[in-house]
Amino acid sequence: MQINAKNVQNITLLAIESSCDDTAASIICNAKIVSNVIANQDIHQQYGGVVPELASRAHQKNIVPVVDMALKQANVSLDAIDGIAYTQGPGLLGSLLVGSSFAKGLALALNKPLVAVNHLEAHVLSLLIDSPDTPFPYLCLLVSGGHTEIVKVNSPSSMEILGRTIDDAAGEAFDKVAKILGLPYPGGPLIDSNAKNGDPHCFSFPSGKVPNLDFSFSGFKTAVLYFIKDAVKKDATFVEQNLSNICASVQQNIITYLLSKLKQAALQTKIKHIAIAGGVSANLGLRTEFLKMAKDQSWTTYIPKLEYCTDNAAMIAMAAHFKFLDHNMASLGDGSFASFDR
Ligand SMILES: Nc1ncnc2c1ncn2[C@@H]1O[C@H](COP(=O)(O)OP(=O)(O)O)[C@@H](O)[C@H]1O
Ligand SMILES: [Mg+2]
Repeated sequence: MQINAKNVQNITLLAIESSCDDTAASIICNAKIVSNVIANQDIHQQYGGVVPELASRAHQKNIVPVVDMALKQANVSLDAIDGIAYTQGPGLLGSLLVGSSFAKGLALALNKPLVAVNHLEAHVLSLLIDSPDTPFPYLCLLVSGGHTEIVKVNSPSSMEILGRTIDDAAGEAFDKVAKILGLPYPGGPLIDSNAKNGDPHCFSFPSGKVPNLDFSFSGFKTAVLYFIKDAVKKDATFVEQNLSNICASVQQNIITYLLSKLKQAALQTKIKHIAIAGGVSANLGLRTEFLKMAKDQSWTTYIPKLEYCTDNAAMIAMAAHFKFLDHNMASLGDGSFASFDR
């Protein structure tokens, strides 16, 4: 099936994302993103991870100015909005409640339809923002802080999970290794930047051994932990002296593992339109190696812009656009919070 996002006219939606620690709002007009505003929450850095209660309080503080700015940047008034979309889940309950309550309040006050969006489906559809002609089905390696999945996308409303992590997510592996190395949260981007000057083959670590298209990262993380502990026992300055090489090697290990499973999925399904999405798809090493593999395998690739990789409301707006077209609206009384299981 080919759904051509750019042929669809005259729908303007406001989308709100608040699943974790970013408060975001976006306006989409006729399937084009016209504003994309995000307020990050630096407060979590000092705790080495997201503190749910602090995240929901920060969402409460940020949501009005973020929505206001998204409307202003798009030069759109609330009257001109045809519907209000929000992230239904998965995510932190308190964080989701802020975005969903705000969206429902606004929908009630303005008497506009409401669209509930699954955060993971939005990641998987994020590439359609800039590649509206992407043919279905495509495969998407979805790699974020909470999820690692290979998804077969049959259409914007029909997706199948072909494989998923049985423990940690790829982003979690990046963040946990970064913590072991004494880097602040979120460590993924810092591993990425340190890896640029390192030798990716300096150190090697075992990859998770799970069958089929599933992933496992917990053994890898533990192996890195004990490797660092032993090395630091012998030389207290080991991490300091070898930071770039450790980061490059850790990153290489994660990338090779992710891409080997993605290649297996492409061979099994015979699909050659392949995408990456989610926070970890911002990783420069992954983007580069993915393109290399694509050349070898004759894949057509789809990689979202950096701003659409990590959590954002533009992808919620894109996913909401398709649901709005399908008349797939939420009700004000819907108090459920989605999971990706189907
Ligand atoms: N350049 C990068 N390299 C590796 N990991 C990254 C990079 N940028 C972001 N990440 C990771 O992406 C994850 C966040 O993904 P995101 O989709 O924004 O959030 P969530 O997991 O809440 O959906 C974090 O684990 C973060 O470390
Ligand atoms: Mg995300």
